[in-house]
Amino acid sequence: MASWNTFVEGDNLDVLRRLAAEGREFDLVYIDPPYNTGNDFAYRDDVRGPDGRRRSRHDAWVAMMRPRLEAARAVMSRAGAIWVSIDDNEAAYLRLLLDEVFGEECFLAQIVVNLNPKGRQLGGGFATSHEYLLVYAKDARACALDATSADHVDERDFPLTTVDGRRYRHLPLRNTNKKFNPVTAPTLHFALWGDPATGAVRAEPFGDGGVEVWPVFGDGTPAVWRWSRPRIEQRPDDLVCRVVKGRLGERVDVFQRDWLHPGTRRKKLRTIWPAEEIGSTDTAVAELKALVGHVFESPKPTGLLRRILATMPDDARVLDFFAGSGTTGHAVALANAADGGRRTCLSVNRPEPTRRGSNAHVAGLATVADITRARLRAVAAAVGGGLEELTMDASRSVEPVPSPGARHG
Ligand SMILES: C[S@@+](CC[C@H](N)C(=O)[O-])C[C@H]1O[C@@H](n2cnc3c(N)ncnc32)[C@H](O)[C@@H]1O
Repeated sequence: MASWNTFVEGDNLDVLRRLAAEGREFDLVYIDPPYNTGNDFAYRDDVRGPDGRRRSRHDAWVAMMRPRLEAARAVMSRAGAIWVSIDDNEAAYLRLLLDEVFGEECFLAQIVVNLNPKGRQLGGGFATSHEYLLVYAKDARACALDATSADHVDERDFPLTTVDGRRYRHLPLRNTNKKFNPVTAPTLHFALWGDPATGAVRAEPFGDGGVEVWPVFGDGTPAVWRWSRPRIEQRPDDLVCRVVKGRLGERVDVFQRDWLHPGTRRKKLRTIWPAEEIGSTDTAVAELKALVGHVFESPKPTGLLRRILATMPDDARVLDFFAGSGTTGHAVALANAADGGRRTCLSVNRPEPTRRGSNAHVAGLATVADITRARLRAVAAAVGGGLEELTMDASRSVEPVPSPGARHG
């Protein structure tokens, strides 16, 4: 059985190209690249434009990221998705770059992640407490990403009850998104008939009490329904007619009865992820400290990665090519141990020297790759799933590390 975790030491561009040459595929790519904050990005002075002049710090960062994102796209499966952590330094440039590499139509979300609830206290200005996750599909139509959470919906959001005890809530049948209107969706603009006294709704006129109801926005402009006519004809009992008070006074409208289905219903993931739900940088430091010590300054919490993993099938092939302290591999092992999944994770980090005098250096971890390995070894020992250790050799192939480094579990 394949190890849950594999670590490759090397520059990620070399590794990605090698993986592509070997025909390897991944379903979920998570990366947390250097944010270009001024002290985390080693490429800045190397990049010059065609005129020989040094380019802006954004150009240099984009020039570093572009080939890596292109190479990442090349190793993604058709159903795959990529998640990229970023902060305000490069968020705007990264969004445009991802639009270019993956296509705007493959944009899935820009999520606000609150990793520092107290807010950054150093320096002037705002106490920034959030960063972002940019999410793109390789192919939006084939993407396996399910943007719901296994956490069940909050029953309190379903305040209504039928006489036989079933919980539900009312959702407007009208599409509230102005992008959908009689011009863009003409087949969904039609009249229904409803009786606000009994709540009955039909696609055709009926009885004495039925009044004609057209979909309209709050300002009275024409709107469209969310359901097609055949669906309404099939499920009239899931609709209810009511009188509502709007900006223009009272009117008759149609609502969907949205049923709770206790125990099975999944909750849609919101695009703001609070630290109470996914952990913070402080929790992440504590998680790392418990396994190998306080040897890395900016790890991500495993809770963040576990929520990302939960959007993909439980046998997803995961890739993190800016692995740092190895949080993604750790989260994969935790997720497999928790749900019996068969996810695998390939982590890549180059042997970037640790700062002399830093905790990592003092602990004998001379490079960041040593930190990644140390954590993933500790994860294999504590959680299970093993660890395969590889390195890029001079001929640019990915080679197993000679024992005693290689470990299988
Ligand atoms: C922000 S850290 C990632 C932190 C990680 N998410 C965690 O939770 O620990 C970025 C990492 O990318 C690595 N890195 C930067 N450029 C790289 C490259 N070209 N190839 C491989 N690793 C690289 C750095 O050594 C650093 O460890």
